[in-house]
Amino acid sequence: MASSFLFLFCFFIGTTANHQTAIQEACKATRWPESCQISLTKSGLDLIPADPSPFQILHSALSLSSKNLGRAKFMVRAILHYSGSNLNLTTTAKLCLQSLDNSAYRLHSAEEVLPRNRIKDARAWTSAALSYQFDCLSGLKKVNDTPMVDKTLSFMNNTLMMSTSNALSMMMSYEEFGNCSGWWRSPRTERDGFWESVGGRSGSGQKHGIPKGLKANVTVCKDGGRCRFGSVQMAVNAAPDNLGGGRRFVILIKEGVYEETVRVPLAKRNVVLIGEGMGKTVITGSLNVGQLGMTTYETATVGKLSTTQ
Ligand SMILES: *[C@@H]1O[C@H](CO)[C@@H](O)[C@H](O)[C@H]1NC(C)=O
Ligand SMILES: *[C@@H]1O[C@H](CO)[C@@H](O)[C@H](O)[C@H]1NC(C)=O
Ligand SMILES: *[C@@H]1O[C@H](CO)[C@@H](O)[C@H](O)[C@H]1NC(C)=O
Ligand SMILES: *[C@@H]1O[C@H](CO)[C@@H](O)[C@H](O)[C@H]1NC(C)=O
Repeated sequence: MASSFLFLFCFFIGTTANHQTAIQEACKATRWPESCQISLTKSGLDLIPADPSPFQILHSALSLSSKNLGRAKFMVRAILHYSGSNLNLTTTAKLCLQSLDNSAYRLHSAEEVLPRNRIKDARAWTSAALSYQFDCLSGLKKVNDTPMVDKTLSFMNNTLMMSTSNALSMMMSYEEFGNCSGWWRSPRTERDGFWESVGGRSGSGQKHGIPKGLKANVTVCKDGGRCRFGSVQMAVNAAPDNLGGGRRFVILIKEGVYEETVRVPLAKRNVVLIGEGMGKTVITGSLNVGQLGMTTYETATVGKLSTTQ
């Protein structure tokens, strides 16, 4: 009963909506509906097909975000070009470009899985893409003393991040209501006391939590000899690239204090790190934002690679 009602409702919306009302409806899913409408109408129109479904508008919103990202990269490259002997600016711009490259990579991943209906993956990657943009923004804020940097900051905050956020919000509504955009609504967050239930209705059907009974492929320990690797980073480097097909590379880290900063390159997929327990296996780094060109993201002790080591 409920599902046939849903079908009729969606059918009705689908056949009467023109371009403008379709955009308006989809933008209701975002945090800034008005800017969403303006941006999609102004710069995204060539990306939206005629008589678009809500899904197609979401897809176009994601493409618009990629387009804006390209523009941001261009602006940061210009900053780098003109940074001259200002070492702070050069370092920051370089790190920023790497963050934006990672952001582009994640947006691309999202664009790839969205048509295959892997909405949870698309959400995770778009959200990661937004974090990389934020990282670049927060780095640039610290060296904001030229009109060029100021212009870039404002583009990143008001155009790029806004468009990525819009696409992400639309994904949340699409996940919940599908193409029934009449029901799309602004995203609820933890700030409103909303916690998404684990497991969800859609997505790739993956089980949540820590997988049980994993067997180690390699071990790491402090006193060399007894196992293959003496540092976590060496074990990570030994993982095969682009591991897929449900296979994993499990690294068991024996009890000990590992003073190192671990970076997992993008190509190292499905790498699992397991320790021997809280307070037993400890990885500790000491990076901080007081260091030259360092951003909060970069200070992670164990993180995805974003700088060239
Ligand atoms: C570079 O950054 C450091 C601290 O992050 C600051 O003390 C220094 O004045 C900056 N140099 C320039 C040329 O802006
Ligand atoms: C960044 O964008 C948000 C959302 O539009 C806005 O509220 C905020 O004032 C902007 N901040 C700056 C520094 O432009
Ligand atoms: C929404 O519409 C698109 C066509 O634009 C279709 O490919 C997709 O499967 C529809 N989604 C759902 C959940 O029905
Ligand atoms: C890790 O070991 C498991 C068996 O415990 C195996 O199935 C898997 O293929 C191994 N992974 C790699 C990358 O060799």
